[in-house]
This record gives sequence, structure tokens and C-alpha cells, in this order.
Amino acid sequence: MLNGLMTIFFFSGTGGVRKIAKELEKQFKERAFRTYLYEIVYTYFKLDANEIDENVKKSRYIFVLFPIYAFDAPQPIYQWIEKTRATNKNVIVISVSGGGEVWPNIGTRFNCITALEKKGFQVIYEKMMVMPSNCFIATNDYLAMWLIKVIPEKVSKIIKAVLSGNIRRTKMKRKAMFQSWLSRKEKKGAHRLEKY
Ligand SMILES: Cc1cc2nc3c(=O)[nH]c(=O)nc-3n(C[C@H](O)[C@H](O)[C@H](O)COP(=O)(O)O)c2cc1C
Repeated sequence: MLNGLMTIFFFSGTGGVRKIAKELEKQFKERAFRTYLYEIVYTYFKLDANEIDENVKKSRYIFVLFPIYAFDAPQPIYQWIEKTRATNKNVIVISVSGGGEVWPNIGTRFNCITALEKKGFQVIYEKMMVMPSNCFIATNDYLAMWLIKVIPEKVSKIIKAVLSGNIRRTKMKRKAMFQSWLSRKEKKGAHRLEKY
């Protein structure tokens, strides 16, 4: 018997987040969930948005995964949030970083969660995962291998926590709020420069 419907949205630049999203899909399928996996940009914007919205409404859980870009979620994530007409009360947001839970990365889910909540979504669980860095600093091969190897274990822990009803929300400190605000401003400024 099926346990319900699961929908995973993800954006990935170089494949790290895709690996995690696919592991989530695999493990939910093993737990008898019907699972939809939407890669924002490459599939989402090419598919029928109404059909996806219907799946969002019916899903027991929605996962949103993205790599951290300049201490924030990448723009396609915000484009999806703006476009969707559906809501869901059980949303899990996973940010994936190359640098880990260090200060400038702390508030990286805040803007995305705020945008989701403005659309009526309810975020019940948020977490950061670390993957090999593809920007600024290089991750050494040994650590990169280890980070990839532990994906199934980390994903399994997240699934167990979510299915057992754990609520996990990060308390935003003032410094992290400021950094999130700055990231949004920086993004808006960068868009204005596009025409030059
Ligand atoms: C343009 C750009 C900006 C990034 N900014 C950050 C950052 O602010 N903090 C961080 O920890 N990692 C940063 N990263 C690293 C990625 O978040 C990280 O390597 C992630 O695992 C990449 O996932 P992907 O392979 O799915 O694209 C950045 C990467 C890129 C390409």
C-alpha cells in the first residue's frame, strides 16, 4: 500500500544537489511513497504547471533543495515560488553549501522560507547539507569523496526525522538577518546591471 505522495523540487548547477534529490527520491520510493522529482529550470518550466500544482496540493511532503549561491538561494528557486499557484503545509527546505554552517551561510534559507511563507506554504523542517565546493575554495579529494559517500546516511536521517514529526526551524540571529537582507539587495542590484 502507498504511503502517500511526495514532491521534490530542486535546482542544481553542477550536480551535487541533484545527487541528494535523487537519493531522497530513491529512499522515499523504498518507503512506498509515490514520488515526483522536478528539476527547476530543466523540467519544471517545460511541464504543465497546473499538473505540478495539483501534485503540490496533494503531497504529504514537499522538499525544496538548492545550492547556496552568494549566501542565498539561486534565482530559479524564487521564480518557481513566484509562479506556483499551490500551497502545502508540510515543506522541508534543504540548502546545500560548499562551506558549511559558518556565519555568512547561516541565514541562507531565510529569504527562501520567507518567500514560501508569503505564498502560504508552511515550512516544518530546514537543514543544511555540505557537498564539495564548486566555487571560491576547492574541497580536497578525500573530503569530497567522504561527503558523497555519506549522502544516503544523511538523507535517511532527514527522512526519519520528518516522518516522525520532528519540527526543525532555525532561530534567526540579527547578524544572519542582516546578511540575508544584504544578499537579497545584492541580487536585485545585480539584475539591474544585466542591461549593461
Ligand atoms: C555562484 C556560486 C556561488 C556560491 N556561493 C556559495 C556560498 O555563498 N556559500 C557556500 O558555502 N557555497 C557557495 N557555493 C558553492 C555551492 O553552493 C556548493 O558547491 C554546492 O554543493 C553546489 O551544488 P550543485 O553542484 O548542485 O550546483 C557557490 C557556488 C556558486 C557556483
